[in-house]
Amino acid sequence: MSFSDPHSPAWEPLLGAAWQAWERAYAPYSGFRVGAALLRSDHAIVAGCNVENAAYPMTQCAERTAVCAAVCQGMAPGELAALVVVTEGPVPTPPCGACRQVLAEFAEDLPILLANRSERSLCDIRELLPRAFTGRDLLP
Ligand code: THU
Repeated sequence: MSFSDPHSPAWEPLLGAAWQAWERAYAPYSGFRVGAALLRSDHAIVAGCNVENAAYPMTQCAERTAVCAAVCQGMAPGELAALVVVTEGPVPTPPCGACRQVLAEFAEDLPILLANRSERSLCDIRELLPRAFTGRDLLP
């Protein structure tokens, strides 16, 4: 399965799961729904949506919802294989800085497909977060 082409059929199950999660987004304050779906190396798909809160900073992004759910289901670092993020924004939306850091904890190479209803854009975590701070930077 190739994730190097944004129109590869390999992305379709992830896109379907991400749009399903998008439907469940809880975004009453921004009105900006985000859906995410990740692929684990064992081929399981785990989805997430953004979950806002009246105390705005408590908001959880879709990408981090998906990562947390996957970890709770047993995903370990190195087992995150691909990610899709969907929005109805005017252009495909990349993960925020905090989400990039969380994604970098679980994958050194991570193809990420950003999509809205009409466009797709492919990127990689290395490109989104070059020279990431990781566990390797900590004292032994
Ligand atoms: N949001 C995400 O879910 N993921 C991101 O990477 C960027 C922002 C959400 C948070 C908030 O609910 C809404 O989008 C507007 O910022």
